[in-house]
Amino acid sequence: MKIAVLGTGNLGLSIIKGILKSGENYQIIATRRNTQSIAFLEKDGIEVTSDNAYAITQSDIVIVALKPFNILEVLKEYKQYFTPDKILVSMATGISIQQIQEAIENKAVTVMRAMPNTASDVGESLTCLVYNGQEKEKLESVKSLLSHVGSVIQINEDLMEAATVLGACGIAYVLRFMRAMVQGGIQIGFDAKTAVQIVNQTVKGAAELLIRNQNHPEDEIDKVTTPKGCTIVGLNEMEHQGFSSSLIKGINASFLKIEKKA
Ligand SMILES: NC(=O)c1ccc[n+]([C@@H]2O[C@H](COP(=O)([O-])OP(=O)(O)OC[C@H]3O[C@@H](n4cnc5c(N)ncnc54)[C@H](OP(=O)(O)O)[C@@H]3O)[C@@H](O)[C@H]2O)c1
Repeated sequence: MKIAVLGTGNLGLSIIKGILKSGENYQIIATRRNTQSIAFLEKDGIEVTSDNAYAITQSDIVIVALKPFNILEVLKEYKQYFTPDKILVSMATGISIQQIQEAIENKAVTVMRAMPNTASDVGESLTCLVYNGQEKEKLESVKSLLSHVGSVIQINEDLMEAATVLGACGIAYVLRFMRAMVQGGIQIGFDAKTAVQIVNQTVKGAAELLIRNQNHPEDEIDKVTTPKGCTIVGLNEMEHQGFSSSLIKGINASFLKIEKKA
């Protein structure tokens, strides 16, 4: 399989790094205008170029990781290179399959949308994938590619904005929560390095408990909240201060922003 990544910035790089770590034998062409900043990829066998037309024509799957503000303009510029044998996978937030098809003026080209997060870098993304077509082989080849950067779930396109908030913005919410835990840890006596070590592994452990046991968070919380104990006292104080409420309100604020209702 030959893969092109158009717009190799933060996300494009995360995807490429994840694929490289998987050890799978993909031929990858990475583009951006300022190629100097990604020239280091060449030592891993990635072809680096600013020639989008070349990258598209050489590839089976074209991952488009351009910013939403210029993706349609760039796709229009290169529309003649998107022949029906190509699969175009857009990662741009808020740009619909229909808008992409209109930009390339070709409904015969398979277009999918994927919303990964930056944990792709370490092979731990949760990628939401939208495909409205019927060709199972094409779907499987994209799922298989994206599985090298983490888990993949298929969703309906009308949930893509919600997926962006929960999955992609979600990384930032969790990291801010972790930062607060570190700050609390320092206040109660740990040096920063030790606090970070404890928090990182505790968060990883909590996630693994849910993933492996397939439990609801509250089931695992019940196991650590001794009646009259310190955990429930701390948790209740957090709730009195609006912990769950502020998270839910934040998620909703991001969603309203993405839906352009705020
Ligand atoms: N970051 C996330 O967590 C995340 C998650 C899911 C989806 N997304 C989506 O992914 C997309 C990319 O986000 P990002 O954070 O990776 O942005 P970014 O770092 O700005 O990457 C975009 C890249 O596109 C390149 N570019 C611009 N015009 C180009 C052109 N004509 N041809 C080739 N390359 C061009 C830019 O480099 P040059 O200026 O050098 O060309 C830049 O490196 C966005 O649409 C975003 O909504 C991001």
